[in-house]
Parts: sequence; structure tokens; C-alpha cells
Amino acid sequence: MFQPVKIAPSILSANFMDLGADIALIERAGAAFVHIDVMDGHFVPNLTMGVPLLKQLKPATSLVCDVHLMIDNPLVELPWFIDAGADLLNVHVEALSEADLVRAIAQIHEAGLLAAAALKPKTPASALAPVIGDLDMALVMSVEPGFSGQSYIAGSEAKVAEVAAMARAAGNEAMLIQVDGGIGTATAPLVAAAGADVLVCGNAVFAAPDPAEALAAVRDAADAARLAALDACA
Ligand code: DX5
Ligand code: ZN
Repeated sequence: MFQPVKIAPSILSANFMDLGADIALIERAGAAFVHIDVMDGHFVPNLTMGVPLLKQLKPATSLVCDVHLMIDNPLVELPWFIDAGADLLNVHVEALSEADLVRAIAQIHEAGLLAAAALKPKTPASALAPVIGDLDMALVMSVEPGFSGQSYIAGSEAKVAEVAAMARAAGNEAMLIQVDGGIGTATAPLVAAAGADVLVCGNAVFAAPDPAEALAAVRDAADAARLAALDACA
């Protein structure tokens, strides 16, 4: 059955001086998630936002607070983000041993949140194997994490298809696949056709002259590709 794609605008590209207005704008435009990029200056070469922002954002929005943790020590910091009101916590597999990845996903679920695991571009899909049956979402990064406004790494959609096949093989048909980095109207159809369900958009939305229109354009381009892929399978 056809399921429309979900758009997760990344507030890393929003106007921090008027963040409330940008959140209201993406809500009205039909975003499903608000994507919050947490960077610690160690796991990635940039420092962004964290717990104090999430604490204020959570009560101010009805969107799913999707927290992308680009940090070195997720097991230590998970409780902070759980307490701050995250709905979905996304940990990078590169930051954790296999055993700690399993622990982190279990800890997120025990707190009643949605759990996701993320892959950097050079990390193989197989790194998700220890948790693929338990994930609510897997994130395929299509740029090196750290900055918004980068170009989509060509061929990233192949990893989306690989992750989708792994989830099916594990019997986790409900697992969502999110793609993050360089997603706009040109790249959304590629990843949507390969099985992406949730598209993170930073610059494609917030740097556009009309962000609501830009969000709708990405969603429409992705939905057309998902529909065509579905028809091709029928
Ligand atoms: C990059 C972040 C992304 C980034 C996306 O490390 O994880 O979420 O904000 O920005 P765009 O869509 O501009 O590539
Ligand atoms: Zn992100």
C-alpha cells in the first residue's frame, strides 16, 4: 500500500534568531518530524545544539522530535536526551561497540522512545546487523556528518536499498529508513525509489525563498518516485 514520505526538516539550517517561527512554518507545511542535529565537536568537527534547546523545543511543537546524536559517548548522554523530551533517538553505530549498540537501542526502548541507528557514508549496511530486527528507524547518511548544505554523495541510494533488504530479511517490515544529507527535489526521487521513508532536509527547505513550497516540492518528487516504484513491483 502506498505510504507518503515523511519530511524531517533539519533545524541546523533554520534561523536561530527566530526558531519558533521556523518551527511553526514547517508544522503548517506538513513536516512529520523536526530533525535536531546534536554535534559534540569530537565525533564530528562541529558543535551545534543539545539538551537546553530540546527542552524548550519539545513543549512548543507537535512534531516528532527526532534527535540525531553525532556524539562520541551516546551511552552516557542518552538519559539526558530522554529526560529532555526526545521522541526518537538516533545513535551512530561508529560511536559504539556492537554490545553497546545493542544496549543503547534497548535503553531507548525501555524509556518508551523510538530507537534509530545511523550509518556514516563509509560504514557498511552490515554494521546494523546486531540491531536491525529491533530498530524503529535506520538512518543512511548521504553526506559526511558535520555540516548542512553539502552535496549528496552519488550512489547513496544503493545503501538505502541494501538496508531495506536487510530489514525485510530480519522480518522488520515496519522499520523506517531515513536519509540525511543533500536531499532536495533532484535527489529525493532516487532515495525514495530505493525505499527511503523519511527525508531530512536542511538547506533545501530553510534556504529556499519559500520554505513551505520547497518542502512540498521535495515531498511531491519523493512520493511520485515511491508510487512509480510500487507500480513497477505490482
Ligand atoms: C549533517 C546533518 C544533517 C544536515 C542536513 O551532519 O546530519 O541533518 O543538517 O542538511 P542538508 O539537508 O542541507 O544537507
Ligand atoms: Zn542529521
